[in-house]
Amino acid sequence: MELNELLRKSLRKYSAYEPGEQPTEDGWLKLNTNENPFPPIPEILKDIKSAINEKLRLYPDPTSFELRKEILNVLLRDKDTLTNRNSIFIGNGSDEVLDVIFKIFIDPGDEVVIFYPTYGFYKVLGTLYNAKITEIQLTDDFSIPDSAFNAKGKLMFINSPNNPNGKSVDNETILKLCESFPGIVLVDEAYADFSNLTCLSLLKKVKNLIVNRSFSKSFSLASLRMGYALADPEIIKEMNRVKLPYNTNYLGQIAALSCIKHSNKIFERNKKIIEERDRLTEILNKFEGISVLPSDSNFIFIKFEDKSKTLQFVWDLKEMKILVRHFSKPGLYNYIRVTIGMEEDNNKFIEAFQKIADKYL
Ligand SMILES: Cc1ncc(COP(=O)(O)O)c(C=O)c1O
Repeated sequence: MELNELLRKSLRKYSAYEPGEQPTEDGWLKLNTNENPFPPIPEILKDIKSAINEKLRLYPDPTSFELRKEILNVLLRDKDTLTNRNSIFIGNGSDEVLDVIFKIFIDPGDEVVIFYPTYGFYKVLGTLYNAKITEIQLTDDFSIPDSAFNAKGKLMFINSPNNPNGKSVDNETILKLCESFPGIVLVDEAYADFSNLTCLSLLKKVKNLIVNRSFSKSFSLASLRMGYALADPEIIKEMNRVKLPYNTNYLGQIAALSCIKHSNKIFERNKKIIEERDRLTEILNKFEGISVLPSDSNFIFIKFEDKSKTLQFVWDLKEMKILVRHFSKPGLYNYIRVTIGMEEDNNKFIEAFQKIADKYL
């Protein structure tokens, strides 16, 4: 048997997504994968613990009925968005939503438009599904360039706030893109709870828009893999037809429901992350030789004037058991992305950064 002959052709040029490092031993300060530094609040842990019972032998609700109801009626109640229960899809993390979108829309050779730089998984999926990928370079200040309004294709991915730089896209731009683009526009709002902007209200006006959201970041549930998408019921119906039958698990559904019940408390706590983001930005901007981009998210993007210093910082931080994210990709070599931690984590990061800066900057 020649395995290569049997494998799908798209796998030959496919490079798998490279997740940020997840060390298994304790003692690391993880500022590399945009997780929420706060654990789920005690009320949620209690709800999860009491759900660990004989029900674990049963399959979970394949339609996540309760969760869809609560997302629309409670979590998004004030967002002026769709209200029909058939306009929401629950996914195994928002990553599954992205995969399902490719599954329903992309035949080999179909055109997909993504921006650069952005979340790397869009391109990974595009390659896997053998799409023809058009990458549009964001402007120097990471805005969407005018050329995007002439783009053609079946799918366009916008990440707002954008990973890795943290800038949000305003609704006027998104609306204009939905109007000019002939296909579907997916707006990935994985980090939108840290921003003042969301395009959820546009869903009532525009049929070719899908908004993808996550419980991983603002709700501290990354390990339980819960995400959701809102869109026209006709799109959601197709998504449900191709998803795995039991794509989300029972404990994830319970935990997400509990997050919604306690969302005010969680959002209140997340204000601390936003305060810390702004504090860190201000402190770091005082260093010579670097600048921090304005961020609407739970991470910051630091630019080094001297490219050769960047990796030095990444390595030295790692020696001190602090992980940050560096992307070895064109245009990104002189940046590092740092997730906002708790106040004491951020102080530890600044202290380490100061020590390294004394050596190199
Ligand atoms: C922009 C963006 N979208 C989606 C995801 C995946 O989120 P989830 O944990 O909901 O699958 C991430 C994770 O880092 C992300 O950065």
